[in-house]
Amino acid sequence: MKQQLLEKFAAVFGDAEGAKVYFAPGRVNLIGEHTDYNGGHVFPCALTIGTYGVARRRADDALHLYSANFEQLGVVKSSLKELIFSKEADWTNYPKGVIWAFGQKGMPVTGGMDLLLWGNIPNGSGLSSSASVEVLTGFILRDLYGFEVSNQELALIGQYSENHYNGVNCGIMDQFAIAMGKADCAIFLDTATMEYAYAPIRLEAMKLVISCSNKKRGLGDSKYNERRTECETALERLQKVTGIRTLGDLDEDTFEKVKDVIGDKTLIARARHAVYENRRTLRAVEALRANDIATFGRLMNESHISLRDDYEVTGRELDTLVEEAWKIDGVIGSRMTGAGFGGCTVSIVKEEAVDVFCQQVGAAYRRAVGYDADFYVVQIGGGPTQL
Ligand code: GLA
Repeated sequence: MKQQLLEKFAAVFGDAEGAKVYFAPGRVNLIGEHTDYNGGHVFPCALTIGTYGVARRRADDALHLYSANFEQLGVVKSSLKELIFSKEADWTNYPKGVIWAFGQKGMPVTGGMDLLLWGNIPNGSGLSSSASVEVLTGFILRDLYGFEVSNQELALIGQYSENHYNGVNCGIMDQFAIAMGKADCAIFLDTATMEYAYAPIRLEAMKLVISCSNKKRGLGDSKYNERRTECETALERLQKVTGIRTLGDLDEDTFEKVKDVIGDKTLIARARHAVYENRRTLRAVEALRANDIATFGRLMNESHISLRDDYEVTGRELDTLVEEAWKIDGVIGSRMTGAGFGGCTVSIVKEEAVDVFCQQVGAAYRRAVGYDADFYVVQIGGGPTQL
C-alpha cells in the first residue's frame, strides 16, 4: 500500500523525494447519537478503513492538493494566503480548513505542501470521511512542521475547522473517535467533561456490519444544524425551571416532570431523544461491561426508534435497512449511525447470519428503494499513524 501510494504521488507531483505516508481511520458510532453537542455520552470506535495521505513540505507557500478519489479535479492549487472556504475548493476545504485552524490556534503553518489523499471509506456514507481527512491533515502538519499538539488537541482543531471553516456545527465525537482510536476498543466519551475510557469490544462469533444506504448526504446541506438549534432552544426553556447546563444533565424522570415548560411538541420530542439516548448509552456500556450483548443490541434498536420517531433523522432508506435487519435471526441489534438523513446503519450480526443478512436486507432494500445498498464487515482499528 505504502509503495503504491508513493508511486501515485510521484506520478502526480513528478517525484516522491522526501514524501511521507500517513493514515487516519474512519469511525462508526455504536450508540449515543446526537448526544455529543448536548453534553451527553457517545460510544464510537475507529475503523481499519480510513484515509491515506502522502505529504511533503514545499519551499514556497503553495498548496498542491490531490485526491485519488476525485481524480477528475486534478491537482487543486491554492496557497497559504487563500485559506477561505469556497464551494469551488470542493474537498480541499477540509485540509485547508485544518491549516487555517492551526493558524487560529497560534500555530501558523509557514510553508506550503504537496498532499495526495486516497480514502477507502465510502464517500458520504456517514463513516466520517471528512473528520478522517481533518485529523489526518492535523497529524501530518504536526509531523511536517513540528507542532506540539496532542491527539486530543488534533481532534479539537479538526472540530474547530469543521465548525468555523466549513460551517457545520458538529460535536466532537467524530474527530475524537478518529484521533483517539484504539484497536478492538470502543471509546466511552463524556462530551461534557471530555473524560473517556476504552471499552474492549469482544464480539465472539459476531460481526460488525455496516449497511450503506448510498443515499448521499452532506452535513452542510442537511438538517443537522437545525436539530442542534432545536436542542438549544429546548435547553434554554428547561433552564427556566432547572439548574441544568446541558440536556445530558437530565435523567428520564426529571425530564418527564419538567418537559412541558418547553411548550412545543416537536422541541419536546427532540429534547426527549437527547435525554433518553444519553441514558441509553450509559446503560449500553454497562451491559457490554457485563458481557450482556443481548441488552446492548436491544438498546441499539431503541436508539434507532428514538432517532426515527423523536429526532426524525432517519428517512425511508435508513428505516428500511434497519427494519429489514431486525427481521433476521442472528441480528443482535441494528440502528442508523452518524448524523442520519442517509449514510449508513450499524448492525451486530452473528457470524453465521452475515450472508443471509446481506442477501435479505439487500434484496428488500432494492425492492423498497429502487437501488442497491452496500454491505461491509468492518474491524475496529487504531488512531492516526505514519506508515
Ligand atoms: C455527525 C457529527 C457528530 C455527531 C453525529 C450524530 O457525525 O459530526 O458530531 O453529532 O453526527 O451523533
